[in-house]
Order: sequence, then structure tokens, then C-alpha cells
Amino acid sequence: MSGLFITLEGIDGAGKSSHMPFLIDYFTQRGREVISTREPGGTPLGEALRDIVLNQAMHPETEALLVFASRREHVAAVIAPALARGAVVISDRFTDATYAYQCGGRGLDAQRVAILENWVHEHLQPDLTFLFDAPTAVARERLDKNTVNQDKFERERGAFFERVRNTYLTRAAQFSKRTCVIDSSRTLAQIRDDLAQHLASMVAQRSLNVKDAQ
Ligand code: TYD
Repeated sequence: MSGLFITLEGIDGAGKSSHMPFLIDYFTQRGREVISTREPGGTPLGEALRDIVLNQAMHPETEALLVFASRREHVAAVIAPALARGAVVISDRFTDATYAYQCGGRGLDAQRVAILENWVHEHLQPDLTFLFDAPTAVARERLDKNTVNQDKFERERGAFFERVRNTYLTRAAQFSKRTCVIDSSRTLAQIRDDLAQHLASMVAQRSLNVKDAQ
């Protein structure tokens, strides 16, 4: 049975994390081992790095180096072994986020990130990426429902998120084979139907070893 690597992406407030339980259930009900994880993070060291990246001011290159340090550990300790034993790995963010946030948002040269990407996971790319897309004003409204514990990214201004969103959309067009753009301004139920359709067609196309749910 082949492993399957799925990533969830989108600007802060686009609502991607709300769909993790649905995606986990989708594959668990079909008899697959599912590993749900996140970046930065996913390992004890990665989670410690996450705390630093999300809460301390730093140079954009430092930010990129730290997220890739977290990613190196994550790929080696969690993602690669799980895929090798045939699991479905669903990661809340991966390298598309570095292009979107550090390059699009912060203005870091994409070639720098490409060097780190080749270093850290030259032979690994997501099989499927769901890009949860919503206008920045919609995402901002959702974020501002809780202003108490906002991290440094969530406190960024509209123009930052416009650049992050545009970079995500450009990459979605560039990597259209693996990326599904999900209109995340709709209701949860509508989004869920959309996700289920994409998953069903991917499963059919790849003839994956996924049983129909009982
Ligand atoms: P997020 O995934 O939005 O988690 P939560 O829903 O708990 O807030 O937060 C992670 C933040 O890290 C997000 O603002 C984007 C940022 N980030 C980067 O800047 N670069 C990266 O490579 C990754 C993976 C995340």
C-alpha cells in the first residue's frame, strides 16, 4: 500500500485547521493509518522551534532557516517513516507556506528557499495540497474574533496577507496537478462536500488502496 502525503495551506484565518478532523475521519473510515501533524512543529524539537518562530521578531532568513530546521526533523522522524509504512500523512502546512510567508510576505528571495527545499526534502513533495483560499478581509474578520493570543503572523497587516495569498495562488497555478484551491469563504458543509469530491476523484485517479466507507 502506498503512502499518501497531503498538505493543508492558506493564509491565517482561512480556516484550514477546522477541516483536519474531517480529513482524518475520511481515511480512517477507509481503513488507512492516518498521521496528522503540523508545521512548524510535528516533533518535540519542531514544537520548540515553532514557539520561537511564532513569537519572536527575527530576520526573514532566520525565520526561513528555523522553519526548515523544524522541517528537517519532521521529515526524518515523522513524515518519511509514516509514508514508508503506507500511512496517510496530513500536515497542516509544509514548504508552500515558506514560499508564501517568507518569500511572498517577507520578501525573501525564492531561490534561497529553493536551496533549502532541495537540501531538506529533495525527493519529497506533497501528493495533494488543499489551498484554503479566502479574501484577506474575510480571514481578518475570523482572526479578530480572538485577539487575545494572536501570534506575530496573525498580527500582520492586510498588505502582508495579500502578498501571502497571491504567492499561494501563483504556486497553486504552477503546481496545479497537486493543488486544489478550496473557496474557503463558504460554509463548513459546502467546503466539506468539495473536499470529499476532490478526495474521491484523487482516489479514483490514483487507484489508491482505499476501501469505500461502510
Ligand atoms: P498556523 O498554521 O496558522 O497555526 P494556528 O492555526 O495554530 O495559528 O500558524 C503557523 C504560522 O507559521 C502561520 O502564521 C504561518 C507561519 N509559517 C511560516 O511563516 N512559514 C512556514 O514555513 C510555516 C510552515 C508556517
